[in-house]
Amino acid sequence: MRHGVGPVTVSRAIALLAAEGAVVTRPGSGTYVATRRPRPADAEPDTSWQAVALAGRQFQPERPDEQSGTPAPGTIALSGGYLHENLQPTRLLGGALARAARRPDAWHRAPAAGLSTLRTIFAQQAGGDVDPEDVLVTGGGQGALSMLFRAVAAPGDPVLVESPTYVGALAAARSAGLRPVPVPMDEHGLRPDLLADAFAMTGARLLYCQPTFHNPTGTVLAPERRGQVVDVARAAGAFVIEDDFARHLGHGRTVPRPLVADDRDGTVIHVRSLTKAASPSLRIGGVVARGPVMRRLLGMRRVDDFFIARPLQEAAVELLSTPAWDRHLRTLATALNHRCAVLADALARELPDWTLLQLPEGGLHLWLRLPAGLTEADIADAVPAHRVAVNLGHQYFAAEPPAAHLRLGFAAAAEPADLVEAAARLAAAASRPRSADD
Ligand SMILES: Cc1ncc(COP(=O)(O)O)c(C=O)c1O
Repeated sequence: MRHGVGPVTVSRAIALLAAEGAVVTRPGSGTYVATRRPRPADAEPDTSWQAVALAGRQFQPERPDEQSGTPAPGTIALSGGYLHENLQPTRLLGGALARAARRPDAWHRAPAAGLSTLRTIFAQQAGGDVDPEDVLVTGGGQGALSMLFRAVAAPGDPVLVESPTYVGALAAARSAGLRPVPVPMDEHGLRPDLLADAFAMTGARLLYCQPTFHNPTGTVLAPERRGQVVDVARAAGAFVIEDDFARHLGHGRTVPRPLVADDRDGTVIHVRSLTKAASPSLRIGGVVARGPVMRRLLGMRRVDDFFIARPLQEAAVELLSTPAWDRHLRTLATALNHRCAVLADALARELPDWTLLQLPEGGLHLWLRLPAGLTEADIADAVPAHRVAVNLGHQYFAAEPPAAHLRLGFAAAAEPADLVEAAARLAAAASRPRSADD
């Protein structure tokens, strides 16, 4: 055939075109190009009435995203929070999904709380005496956070957060009508003394934190502080949401056990996700919670979306129960460790006056303070022309940022060599605004 494809490919292409409305098939006659009627300009829908209808309704804040717009071809991504396809276990995922699809019950309804095998695996991974009954399967970590902020707090309530913290958590909390209140952290994580002050000042009943490989700083909450943070929250009658998103993103050293493993009374609500170490589209996560919170979450699930798609849950079970998953995690740890060092070295060479606040032992990012005189806006303006994408620091702060920062990721670029090139491009981008000031 002229296009070098077989009849199966041709008939699939025609079926796709028919579904898109580009062709019409007339049984017994043939397939014909559909007459397309472009929408006339004056037929653009007039949606201005919606501005009136929505006035006074709660505004859903959008997640800030300075990467809007298509980056120029050849742009190196130091932005974003997921693995490049080169680091994803694509073959394993394909095999897991294929095995899941072959199960006779693959398309049956799933239980509201999730498949019992998956709940058992998540319970076992959480450790301590966490029981499968304590686990709710969710659509990734973000879905879990959105549910939790709605379940455990009411609009107008304060929620304490680390400063800085994950942008998506701030967006989800604000979307639930909550008021994020920052609590300072240092290189050992959240400061329990200031946490106690913040609970006392605000009357908050909720803390959101990431004790292990915190995004954006990579910090791990120090061993002696882990119990203290939970004790301070318990004394305030508050919940702790432990976002354990980076559990499988360690760079090779021992990863501390989750706070929930030592929880005795349902203070800690634990969130985990498979997207970070596998693929952003494996949108499967889990919440560990006990007591009335779990009952509320189950109630919400039954109202919001009934259950999480069974084929994806089955695929997650298949993935997690093959020995190749552990091999993938070991390979990933080595790759992340290498990439982290490559980017840190390149930045130290190219931009010696930028301060790397900590060399992380897990996670996907470096967190840097910019030198005096260089603003985030300078960088935002300059980087597109130098074809490198970054995340600006201010959006990670619930209140005024104490200084200008950037979050630079080492996992979204295709190759480690790209990280060296990206550091050189950043140096070129940074040199222009400063020379203009000089
Ligand atoms: C700290 C943190 N928590 C949760 C999430 C949510 O990820 P997902 O919904 O893909 O599991 C992210 C993603 O960037 C994150 O960085």
